Amino acid sequence: PNNNTPHEKDLDETLALSHDGYLYIKNRMDKHKSDLFQTHLFGQEAICITGKEAAELFYDTEKFARSGAAPKRVQKTLTGENAIQGMDGEAHIHRKSLFMALTTDPNPRTLADLVTKEWEAAIPRWETAEKINLFDEGKLVLCKVACQWAGVPLLEAETKEYADDFAEMIDAFGAVGLRHWKGKTARTKTEKWIENIIDNLRAGRLKAPEDSALFMVANHKELNGNLLETNMAAKELMNLIRPIVAISTYITFMALALYEHSDYKDVLLNDSDAAHLFVQEVRRFYPFTPFVGAKVKKEFTWNGCEFKTGTLVILDVYGINHDSRIWEKPFEFQPERFRNWQYNPFEFIPHGGGDPANGHRCPGESITVEIMKATLQFLVNRIQYKVPDQDLSYDMTRIPTYPKSGFVLTNVISK
Ligand code: HEM
Repeated sequence: PNNNTPHEKDLDETLALSHDGYLYIKNRMDKHKSDLFQTHLFGQEAICITGKEAAELFYDTEKFARSGAAPKRVQKTLTGENAIQGMDGEAHIHRKSLFMALTTDPNPRTLADLVTKEWEAAIPRWETAEKINLFDEGKLVLCKVACQWAGVPLLEAETKEYADDFAEMIDAFGAVGLRHWKGKTARTKTEKWIENIIDNLRAGRLKAPEDSALFMVANHKELNGNLLETNMAAKELMNLIRPIVAISTYITFMALALYEHSDYKDVLLNDSDAAHLFVQEVRRFYPFTPFVGAKVKKEFTWNGCEFKTGTLVILDVYGINHDSRIWEKPFEFQPERFRNWQYNPFEFIPHGGGDPANGHRCPGESITVEIMKATLQFLVNRIQYKVPDQDLSYDMTRIPTYPKSGFVLTNVISK
C-alpha cells in the first residue's frame, strides 16, 4: 500500500545520515518533491516527514508515543535513560508540570539577570586576556549560573570540570566512538554527583529554597504519591541544568551572526525590539536540533502512506525551519522577517512544536530566549572587541555543530 511513497533503497541509511547530517532529510525531500519518504535508520524501518502539516501530525499524542523512540545511545548520553523525553500520557503530563513550573516566569528573567551579572564580572579579565573563546566562556558562565539558580552547590574550582561534563553529554548526541564514550562517562559521573546532592537534601544535610529546582525535583511526587527514585530525580535535575549549558552553542552562533551581519548592529543599538528579532532568527537559521523521533501509537494513513503501529517516525526540525513554503529565502539571515511574524506552534520549531505543557515541546524556550537576549545586549552595548582570523565555519555533517574556532575575541574593551 505504500508503493506511492518515495523510499530510499539502501538497506540502512544510517551512514548516509552521518554523511549528510543536518540536510539528510531535506536533501531527500527536495529530490522526491515530497513531504515524506520511507527509509531504514538505526536498524529499523523509519518514515521521515517534513512541513508544517507534518509537525502538527507529529505532536498529536493520540497518534504518536515517545516510549522506546530514542536510541539507547542517545539516552545514555544526552537525556538520561527513561527520563521525561521517553514518557507518555498522563504520567508525562504530570512530570512535565514540574518542568513547566521551573521554566516559566519568573525563571527566564532570573536566569538572564544572573547571566548578565557574570558577563559584567568577566570584563576586567577579558580586557587583560590575550584572547577569549566565547564558546568556552559561555559553558562556564552557564554551568555556574544554572547550578546557582537550581540550588546545586558548585565550587568555583569545580565549575570547569562539570561544565565540560555537561558539554560532553551534549556533544555526544549524534556521535559514535570517542565522542559517544566521553558523553557516557560524563553522564555516569554527573548522575552520581547529583544523586548525592538529592540524598543530602532529602536527609536535611543540605538546604535549598523551596522554589529552587533542586528542592522541587527532590520533593516532586509521582501520580502514585511516591517521590522520584534518587537516580531519576538526578536525571531530571540534569535535564534542567544541561540544556542551560547548551545555550552556549546558540551564543556562539549569535556572535557569528553579529560578525557576519554587522550592518544590523545599528538597528540593535537604536531599536529595542530588534534584539528579539535577532535572537529568533539565530534560532531559526543556525543548525542545532536536527530532528526528533517518535513511534506510531495507533495505525493511520497520511498523504497516502500507511503508518503502522510501532514504526519510527522522524520529524525534520532543521528542514521545517528552512522550508521555503514557510520562510521566504530561508537560507538568508534576515531578523526582520520576525517583525510582523504571526506565531504558529508548528512553523518555527527549533525547540519542537505544539504546546510544551501538553506535549514534548521544549519547556526551556523562554529561558533560552531571555539568556540569549541578555548576552546580545552585553555583546552589543557593553564591550568592543576584535575578531581575529580564525576558522568560523561549521560542519553541517557534525551533529551537534558549532563554529570550529568557538568564536575567538581579542582586544576587548568595556564601552
Ligand atoms: C526538549 C531544544 C534549551 C529543557 C527539547 C526538544 C528540543 C529542544 C528540540 C525536544 C522536543 C520534542 O521532543 O518534541 C532545545 C534547544 C535549546 C533548549 C535548541 C537551547 C539550547 C532548554 C532549556 C531547558 C530545556 C534551557 C530547561 C531549562 C528541556 C526538557 C525537554 C526538552 C526538559 C524534554 C521535554 C519533554 O520531553 O516533554 N528541547 N532546548 N531545554 N528541553 Fe529543550
